[in-house]
Amino acid sequence: MATINDNYLKLKAGYLFPEIARRVKAFVDANPDAPIIKLGIGDVTEPLPKACRQAMVDAVEDMGNRETFKGYGPEQGYLWLREKIAQQDFQARGCDIDASEIFISDGSKCDTGNILDIFGKNNKIAVTDPVYPVYVDTNVMAGNTGEVNEKGEYEGLVYLPISAENDFSAQLPGEKVDLIYLCFPNNPTGATATKEDLQKWVNYAQENNAIILFDAAYEAFITDESLPHSIYEIEGAKNCAIEFRSFSKNAGFTGTRCALTVVPKTLMAKAADGSDVDLWKLWNRRQSTKFNGVSYVIQRGAEAVYSEAGQAQVQDLVSFYLENAKIIREQLTAAGFTVYGGKNAPYIWVQTPHNLSSWDFFDKLLHTCNVVGTPGSGFGAAGEGYFRISAFNSRANVEEAMKRITAKFQV
Ligand SMILES: Cc1ncc(COP(=O)(O)O)c(C=O)c1O
Repeated sequence: MATINDNYLKLKAGYLFPEIARRVKAFVDANPDAPIIKLGIGDVTEPLPKACRQAMVDAVEDMGNRETFKGYGPEQGYLWLREKIAQQDFQARGCDIDASEIFISDGSKCDTGNILDIFGKNNKIAVTDPVYPVYVDTNVMAGNTGEVNEKGEYEGLVYLPISAENDFSAQLPGEKVDLIYLCFPNNPTGATATKEDLQKWVNYAQENNAIILFDAAYEAFITDESLPHSIYEIEGAKNCAIEFRSFSKNAGFTGTRCALTVVPKTLMAKAADGSDVDLWKLWNRRQSTKFNGVSYVIQRGAEAVYSEAGQAQVQDLVSFYLENAKIIREQLTAAGFTVYGGKNAPYIWVQTPHNLSSWDFFDKLLHTCNVVGTPGSGFGAAGEGYFRISAFNSRANVEEAMKRITAKFQV
């Protein structure tokens, strides 16, 4: 009989979002008329920018003509898109990244998981706690961890706690690690990293021959001009970091699907025989073998993000969500809540009132205000006592949710 990848059996049964969905469904079944507002999952709500839509419509027409029809595209993505990304996202900010180092994909969720294909089995892996759960679960699936304990921590991973006590900036690991996942602006805490913070990580990686897996899915939300958007703004990062970016949150591509991964050609890691191997070559091989590229139509839509009109429309979208974040932050603060994030990020990280556990506060908010958020403990043990509220929603829903919460809770 066929056997399975037993590592899947190690995964915690109640993954965060299915458990939220289960509790919301149970509540709605019992209260069918409850006017639920969901500020939980980080999905966008506003329509695609006009420039992207028009570019996709034009691209569909291209596909209707023999002269302009496209079949399989390059597995790495079309050069016209990669060149615009290299110029506008990286070179314009002083990062020495070439189009050939950029790989277009259908999502940074997939890429942050798939990247493990090119790394060995004996790496010591560090994640922050709380953390975007995909980094942990993909390592479990890949067999890079042992079993989970009652706190939800997997044996073999190095957890780096982030909380108000350390200003949401993880300490360097006390032991030597080989792979480090960093996400800034951070999901779930909304925290950002300064150049000095990132330099500390790059120095650590260089001293320990470690690789940083830097998730910049929310970089478009940075408004503070002193903050870096890319790890490659940091000296030395081209020798020790892979960066993941996405069109999901800036241009609303969560359902359209387009993202990118940067693997500098200067990045090396060790083979079992001790020799240095070029990670770009491995990732290129991996993508060419297991991936057939993102649709031409979608890549044309992503390209339009870099047009003048596209840039202005993306900026409007980001500003809209940041205004939502400001409303949430200000109203909860006025009601006595202690809140973090939400300034250069679409997430507000709220300390639960009266020492309620994250799930108790979730249930209370659902039952008394019909508002759904995300319990901090779902992102890791150190998220206990916190709650994530997402700014991805309509203005009317954000205002109504804040009205209900501030009416019921005075902390
Ligand atoms: C930190 C982080 N990285 C990656 C993603 C997924 O991005 P994509 O839609 O490109 O798969 C998300 C989505 O919520 C995220 O929060």
